[in-house]
Amino acid sequence: MTLQVIVGAQWGDEGKGRIVDWFAAQANFSARFNGGDNAGHTVTVGKRIFKLHLIPSGIIHPQIVAILGNGMVINPATLFEEMDILRQAGISVSPERLRISFAAHLITPAHQALDKALEVARGRGNLGTTGRGIGPAYTDKASRRGLRLADMLAVDFCERIGNHVTEANRSLRMLGAAELEPGPVCEQFGEFARRLKPHIADTALELHAALQTGKTVLAEGAQGTLLDIDFGTYPFVTSSSTTAPGALTGLGLGLDAAREARVIGVVKAFQTRVGSGPFPTEVFEALALRLRGSGENPWDEYGTTTGRARRVGWLDGVLLKYAVRINGLRELAVTKLDILSGLENLRLCTAYRHDGKVLTDLPFGPAELEAFEPVYEDLPGWSEDVSALREWGQLPAAARNYLDRIARLAGVPVRLVSVGPEREQVVVHS
Ligand code: GDP
Ligand code: IMO
Ligand code: MG
Repeated sequence: MTLQVIVGAQWGDEGKGRIVDWFAAQANFSARFNGGDNAGHTVTVGKRIFKLHLIPSGIIHPQIVAILGNGMVINPATLFEEMDILRQAGISVSPERLRISFAAHLITPAHQALDKALEVARGRGNLGTTGRGIGPAYTDKASRRGLRLADMLAVDFCERIGNHVTEANRSLRMLGAAELEPGPVCEQFGEFARRLKPHIADTALELHAALQTGKTVLAEGAQGTLLDIDFGTYPFVTSSSTTAPGALTGLGLGLDAAREARVIGVVKAFQTRVGSGPFPTEVFEALALRLRGSGENPWDEYGTTTGRARRVGWLDGVLLKYAVRINGLRELAVTKLDILSGLENLRLCTAYRHDGKVLTDLPFGPAELEAFEPVYEDLPGWSEDVSALREWGQLPAAARNYLDRIARLAGVPVRLVSVGPEREQVVVHS
């Protein structure tokens, strides 16, 4: 059996979508295990750019069966929009190809309203959430009052939705936000339920059977290690397990599935973050604009889901080493190497200075990073455009040196390097 787990090693937007698409060419199942439409995963195939929020990024390959796992929170309105876009592009999203766990949770307009109202209430200390209702949906799940996909099959689903809206209204009232009419939400979700029914399944059972019969299952993380609810820069995190072990609980797989799993961490060649929270290697002004891009190119650093400008900085080797440990990464896929072409000097954070000491491990994980000062190592850059290169040996010596240094800091090899957003713009390190 073959399980491949692909997770973000930073604060999300590492290029997971395009790496999943690359691996999906050789896989049978493509599965999302956490988060919801706070994710935005881009896959570029020629002139077509797919921005996927809920549907796994392997879907573009015709042999793939796509799974939305029990660890996810699903807004059916976004899901239908995405299904329509794929259908229009000639990609099947039939019930045989798109399977949704009965145990995944629903996101409703009440969750979205609560997410926004809570952010307003936080004022200057807001988290910078995507406003998609992620936190409130996981809160309901943990409070054991959430709505699962299986509820859509119940005869009293409309009543359950109505109760949920009434309950949420109480919180909205306390927050001074507008309340919702239960009637229209019941009606809308009744229609969603009718359309989703044929997709709802015990996906854990289906994945187990697939692995037992030698099929390849690709588990796709959303967000990144540093946004994990337990291991991220708490409280500036998302509400789910974004790390590799989350693939097991979020898909209903046992530890035996992990035994021979290929665990791949996607790492941007520099560092980005969208939303609030610490970012020790952040850069500003002209250098920030250079790394972010001005927004002219589709790959410039503006959020796929919210359009917000991403904060940018130098690659943080201390946090990368942490991500390797927490996820059990066995290899790295480094993306956006092409963006660094033309920079004379590159910096890598190799340690932190704190209380007069130099540390390469954090005493309490990455939560309280404000007091840590990065220690940088400077490396020479390269001027050559690398976007047309496909072989390791063709890469400029300075680029290979930079990648080798990343691998040494991380303690695991760099196996893939992407040098542009398109499907074939990949260099495999033999
Ligand atoms: P994800 O959330 O991890 O899937 O990443 P996003 O899709 O949110 O953001 C990554 C962005 O970088 C997208 O616009 C990708 O098309 C683009 N991208 C991915 N790999 C590369 C690369 O190697 N070079 C360039 N220039 N763009 C890339
Ligand atoms: P992908 O899968 C980058 C960030 C938000 C905010 C924090 C909490 O495309 O990498 P939430 O709406 O989840 O409650 O917001 O997490 N965030 C992401 N940042 N990429 C993402 O997804 C993200 N999903 C959430 O900006 O700081
Ligand atoms: Mg993204």
